[in-house]
Amino acid sequence: MNRDPSAPAMTQDELKALVGRAALAYVEPGQIVGVGTGSTVNCFIDALAQAQAQAQTRIAGAVSSSEASTQRLRAHGIAVFDANEVGELAVYIDGADEIDPRGYMIKGGGAALTREKIVAAQARRFVCIADQSKWVQTLGRFPLPVEVIPMATQRLIRQFAALGGEARVRLRDGVPLVTDNGQHILDVHGLRIADPVAFESMVNDWPGVVTVGVFAHQRAHVCLLGTPEGVRTIAFDTP
Ligand code: 5RP
Repeated sequence: MNRDPSAPAMTQDELKALVGRAALAYVEPGQIVGVGTGSTVNCFIDALAQAQAQAQTRIAGAVSSSEASTQRLRAHGIAVFDANEVGELAVYIDGADEIDPRGYMIKGGGAALTREKIVAAQARRFVCIADQSKWVQTLGRFPLPVEVIPMATQRLIRQFAALGGEARVRLRDGVPLVTDNGQHILDVHGLRIADPVAFESMVNDWPGVVTVGVFAHQRAHVCLLGTPEGVRTIAFDTP
């Protein structure tokens, strides 16, 4: 899609809305769609609801990666299925905090990373929708979210410190944020993740880690990147 170069620059919210609408091209009528979490996905959910209302794309429903997305989907009258009720999904659509030129991502800014990874693993294709601020050459600028079991917190903070990272417990209203799974989030600052596949495997092996927010094993197949020139579609090579 090309825009008029004399048009005023688009805001980040407008870029999110643009890629949210563009993701509709990956949704087939009658499908059950995997739906991620976050402000960009909210744009996708709203676009999906509008398309349903206009009878352009009538899906059978969604598998959702968070309570927040479930509420939004249901508010639009879109059925939400439990992941165990359905088989493989054709597509999973989600945002990212960072995405690199190989389709590796950091996710979990919305604390939904564990369910996001579960639904992504159930889908044949991961379509990442992101505004251009999320594009990086090497993962690590965004503090890495890690969902952890609270009794392991202090040891995991020391393990990240040994890697040169500073892990902080994510707070909400002055107390540790509790995820949809009843666990806590560490945000790890100061990492540079040169080998996301090895890093993800290593951290996932640490006792007390529920999920690390590196999505390398569940990387994106396609990224719809919102840029001032329009949506750039980036397909990643299969490994
Ligand atoms: C939630 C996520 C989101 O995809 C990520 O934080 C991006 O969010 P947004 O679209 O609001 O920028 O991983 O856990």
